[in-house]
Amino acid sequence: MKKYDIALIPADGIGPQVIEASWEVLSKVADQEGFGLSETTFPWSCAYYNETGMMMPADGIETLRGFDAILLGSVGWPAQVPDSVSLHGLLLTIRKAFDQYANVRPHRLLPKVNGPLKATDFDLLCIRENTEGEYSGAGGRVHQGTPSEVVVETSVFTRRGVERILRYGFEQARQRSGRLASVTKSNAQKHSMVFWDEVTRELAAEFPDVEVTSYHVDALAARMIMAPESLDVIVASNLFGDILTDMGAAIQGGLGFAASANINPDRSVPSMFEPVHGSAPDIAHLGIANPIATIWSAAMMLEHLGEKQAADRIMAAIATATEKGVGVNPGKDKTSAITAAVLEALD
Ligand code: NAD
Ligand code: IPM
Ligand code: MN
Repeated sequence: MKKYDIALIPADGIGPQVIEASWEVLSKVADQEGFGLSETTFPWSCAYYNETGMMMPADGIETLRGFDAILLGSVGWPAQVPDSVSLHGLLLTIRKAFDQYANVRPHRLLPKVNGPLKATDFDLLCIRENTEGEYSGAGGRVHQGTPSEVVVETSVFTRRGVERILRYGFEQARQRSGRLASVTKSNAQKHSMVFWDEVTRELAAEFPDVEVTSYHVDALAARMIMAPESLDVIVASNLFGDILTDMGAAIQGGLGFAASANINPDRSVPSMFEPVHGSAPDIAHLGIANPIATIWSAAMMLEHLGEKQAADRIMAAIATATEKGVGVNPGKDKTSAITAAVLEALD
């Protein structure tokens, strides 16, 4: 029997709730499909930071390296630990350490979910660069707190980094509609984004079957609202992709539905799967977190591991649950009720 070792990092706020729900679903589908799943749960979080002064132990990355995949809840408890400390100490470290350069985020409406748009027939796949760009961390502050304070935060775009994420986007477009939107801002950012456009054109020659259009990010944001059905695969830099995918979550009915995968396609290290949303401190104690985003991310994890049939089974169960009206009322349905409906639909 095939068996996969999964590292669970529930972390903060609603993270533990949505991970528990997802693990129940994963365990059931593994039984049904006849493969093994073992879990090791790590307590790394803001609470762990308060005890130890670190978001994860010094050998955390080495510990994770041996797993087949990582499923993460959400990191951040800004009332106690600054976000700049907690996120860089855990989530962003893992993405960079394992070179999970493709952040893949699907946005489409599940049955009976009311999105805010008139359009309902969109099916977007956002591919976000996940290791460099605006998140490079290069920069610093001098003369801190004085009138002459200077702050520099530099985006870093490498040919290797830009080429590989664009190539990933072209390949996804080839497998889907053949349409690719490359997100840029080359009218204002005359170095990095002009370079991004150049590499887009270079790769376009290699993918004559893909129809690529470069959009400025502001215009693309408007298009996602006005005509999302005109888009399919979207490839963007780290920060542009971050912002566009919360918007993608919004048009699919809310952050509780938006799934994501942090992929290193070479598979020599674990990839990481997590919802797009954060720890939702405002609802963390109410038991109403929507677990669907994380359950969908878990399905993406199974697909990445080669268990496509199990992944499809989970997606069908999620759709059956929302079709029955469960999970479609943000703030009303309990996490436990949504999880129960998905588990029932697996049968
Ligand atoms: P957030 O995503 O946590 O919450 C934004 C809004 O969406 C809130 O009103 C929240 O209640 C709602 N929401 C989010 N997930 C939901 C769910 N599953 N079901 C129902 N409603 C949901 O964003 P924020 O408030 O900006 O950030 C809170 C903390 O999470 C911060 O520390 C932030 O840095 C962190 N964060 C972490 C991640 C991550 O770990 N991947 C992602 C985003 C934000
Ligand atoms: C996301 C989150 C993270 C990001 C934050 C929490 C650092 O917003 O996964 O979208 O910006 O990548
Ligand atoms: Mn985000």
